[in-house]
Amino acid sequence: MQDKLTAIATSARAAISEATNQEELKQFQIHYLGKKGEMTSVLRGMGKLSPQERPIIGGLANKIRDELSALFTAREVELRDQERLLMMAAEKIDVTLPGRQPSLGHLHPITLVLDEIADIFLGMGFTIVEGPEIETDYYNFEALNLPKDHPAREMQDSFYFHPEMLLRTHTSPMQVRTMEKVAPEVPVRIIAPGKVYRRDDDATHSPMFHQVEGLVIDRNISLSDLKGTLLLFAQQMFGPHQKVRLRPSYFPFTEPSAEVDISCMMCAGKGCRVCKDTGWIEILGSGMVHPHVLEMSGYDPEEYTGYAFGMGVERIAMLKYGVDDLRLFFQNDVRMLRQFR
Ligand code: PHE
Repeated sequence: MQDKLTAIATSARAAISEATNQEELKQFQIHYLGKKGEMTSVLRGMGKLSPQERPIIGGLANKIRDELSALFTAREVELRDQERLLMMAAEKIDVTLPGRQPSLGHLHPITLVLDEIADIFLGMGFTIVEGPEIETDYYNFEALNLPKDHPAREMQDSFYFHPEMLLRTHTSPMQVRTMEKVAPEVPVRIIAPGKVYRRDDDATHSPMFHQVEGLVIDRNISLSDLKGTLLLFAQQMFGPHQKVRLRPSYFPFTEPSAEVDISCMMCAGKGCRVCKDTGWIEILGSGMVHPHVLEMSGYDPEEYTGYAFGMGVERIAMLKYGVDDLRLFFQNDVRMLRQFR
């Protein structure tokens, strides 16, 4: 029995020093010293010993148990420290690393261009007005000389909520809303920036886009006032060498009407891919406010004249930043947007 006990002690000592983690150590402890462990099963034979032998074996067993218990405890502390160190190494916390920079937001390129357009017109004495994106048929069409059966409505294929309510297809209703409010006071000198909606979707058209409407009414306003104002605008927006050109066009709410081109900023008017070799780029529609429109909104066309224009903001932004697909502005891809910080 004595030999069996010493053998257990020897193999337990080896197991303790070979245990590689706390869990393994725990298993060994149960195996050697547990209730159903090796020690217990050897000592079960104590009853067959002579009274002289019993205290000797008992003493030896206690000594071995004490020794092994102490070894287990010491090894457990050792393994726990070791495991903690390994865990810390795996986490790789480097307290000397610099902090993470929170990323700051910035304005959308369309907002930047809108602000720039507004600044230029504010500098010329215009004020800014804003109005609803959900508009009535009256303001969007009727009061602009576009009665229900007018074929020009088709150019602005629209989103309707109701036969009399739609998402505005242009900012021109703000001409009417402004005139109604201030008539017959002059001068009227406003721009109306905002979102407009049409059933269009391709590389140069989006179902939602932005326009800036302009309206000036006073005595003796003529086409040359319109041209001079837009020339100044083009030069401030794209550079001092800009030219503008008016081409005859048609809008039911202006007479005469004109499309306004500016000289191509990519090739300085020489002709390139962007201007399709014409040297000119169209940026807006405009004209002299139709006498009937003036009259419907409270101005006497015998006494007052005015001009109006509507420009596409995305168009200006594409030209200014050299963006060739309008949809890029609305896909919200940060790789695109963060270039405008
Ligand atoms: N509202 C017209 C459009 O969206 C543009 C325009 C505005 C034309 C003002 C003339 C005068 O196409």
